[in-house]
Amino acid sequence: VKCLQRLDTFLLRSIGTNVVAAQAEPTRKDESDEKDGPKSLYAVQTERQEQAERSVLISCNSRTNEKKFLKYLSRHGDIKKHFFYESYGMYAVVEFANRESVTSLLEGAAIPHISHESMVPFKSRLLSLNNLGTVDSPNQQFGQQCQPQTAPPINELIQRLSKEESIDQQITSLTEAYQLTEENSRLRFLVCSLLKDIAAAYFPECTIRPFGSSVNGFGKLGCDLDMFLDLDGISGRNVKMPKSGLSLEYQMKRANSERAVTQSILSVIGECVDQFGAGCVGVQKILNARCPLVRFAHQPSGFQCDLTANNRVAMKSTELLYLYGELDQRVRCLVFTVRCWARAHGITSSIPGAWITNFSLTVMVLFFLQKRSPPIIPTLDQLRDLAGPADKSVIEGNDCTFVSDFSKIPLHRNTETLEQLLHGFFEFYGTFAFSSMSINIRKGKEQNKPGVVSLAHPEPVKPLSECQQECQCHPTRPLCGFVSGECPHFVQIETNTPRGPGNNTSTPNLLKPLNVSKNVNATQLDRFVALCQERPGLAQQIETNTPRGLRGNNTSTPVGTG
Ligand code: CTP
Ligand code: MG
Repeated sequence: VKCLQRLDTFLLRSIGTNVVAAQAEPTRKDESDEKDGPKSLYAVQTERQEQAERSVLISCNSRTNEKKFLKYLSRHGDIKKHFFYESYGMYAVVEFANRESVTSLLEGAAIPHISHESMVPFKSRLLSLNNLGTVDSPNQQFGQQCQPQTAPPINELIQRLSKEESIDQQITSLTEAYQLTEENSRLRFLVCSLLKDIAAAYFPECTIRPFGSSVNGFGKLGCDLDMFLDLDGISGRNVKMPKSGLSLEYQMKRANSERAVTQSILSVIGECVDQFGAGCVGVQKILNARCPLVRFAHQPSGFQCDLTANNRVAMKSTELLYLYGELDQRVRCLVFTVRCWARAHGITSSIPGAWITNFSLTVMVLFFLQKRSPPIIPTLDQLRDLAGPADKSVIEGNDCTFVSDFSKIPLHRNTETLEQLLHGFFEFYGTFAFSSMSINIRKGKEQNKPGVVSLAHPEPVKPLSECQQECQCHPTRPLCGFVSGECPHFVQIETNTPRGPGNNTSTPNLLKPLNVSKNVNATQLDRFVALCQERPGLAQQIETNTPRGLRGNNTSTPVGTG
């Protein structure tokens, strides 16, 4: 009741503000796609990858006349889809019906002439449109509308939510405002495809696939782009050896470990991205992290990119999250809401540091939904029991088997509203015995916490200044700088270890319990629990807190220590 009252107050206060957005309505998920039931992640990825390979990214002027632009390009073939967006200038994504059109377009493109600089002669599908000689009349209508590629600012969101009539509608509206659009999703796959062109110079059979929130259904506009350089086609993993007779094999250089191979591949690709990748800036090779990666910003798209290799468990956990999100639409709604709430309270942040991550929050929501009566989603064990032979998957010793055919998954008739569930979430974790219990989404049960060993810092506690060990908790945080027992990332270790080689723990990815309290920075956890206990109204919570990072607050002070 308190929650509703707060929300009502908030709703009344905010009504009446108009949001003026000179932007095209973003395209949401194509509902016609849903008529045969949800598509598997594999099917979605294949379709998007194929689209991306027929697409080009063109920097153009905001005064570009859309009609002329399309007419000019369609000399190379039929255009299937196009859209404009802004990121350090105006860009257009153009998808042709056939790949030959892209070849023809590239053949007709010129090498730029710049008098004081030299060009690195690496051609790609990132192009610039020049408009020489012809001047558009100043009164001319420039038809293009821009598709938003970032989530609306918090104030705009609040205004939007205030127009809704119930908490359920607010939650749905929040999800719609934040989730990736069709266009943003295309752009993510296109960036992967452009990157693949660079990596293919060394590894022609490679693919680069997005994983994590870009594809698991929980991505918010503006989230990072996690990429996986897939060399399975070349690694020998899928090769069948003839049983007898003559055969040839490649001579290949050997290395001490798979981790060493991954590091050398990423080192070379990182160098290429840095030296040859147009639009790729701030390239960092973080090769000593538990999961080696190359991080950079892709300016034309505005994406912060993390390129990893040999990260198959993370791909599998992405698939699992996608499946859960597709099973019941309340799953994604609740995850978006809890993430938004956590961000507004500074429980999560885009700045690396002592934060619980969106990924862990998602797992907490999933567990909560498994615990409803009747359950809204099945446990991982139940999904494994429904799996067919083709679903069998063991990665680095972890059983990652679960059913891929959605139609085989029986769902219970739980009719709880989003409002009831949000309330229930806060109640559940507000009274959860974090100090003694952990959560396990494989079993859908809490379980006693085993003694938690510090995996990232197994040594006796050192002074903070001396603790510069590689943080094993997160791929993108090579040095966490926390002493044993204080490292807030321990929650990650317990939840999942997708990082393969170099991972000398036996803790599998989502398969082990999530030990929250002992691992998460205690103050941060207290804060989380306290906030859950308040059981706040959604909009009230968003409104009364300045989200870190959202309003230019660039502090990296972790929650609880600042
Ligand atoms: N991952 C994991 N275990 C971790 C961290 C990450 O398995 N400890 C995998 C998950 O599949 C996760 C993906 O790596 O989705 C990408 O990690 P990250 O970027 O941290 O999380 P996202 O889910 O992408 O969420 P965000 O929107 O915050 O980037
Ligand atoms: Mg991510």
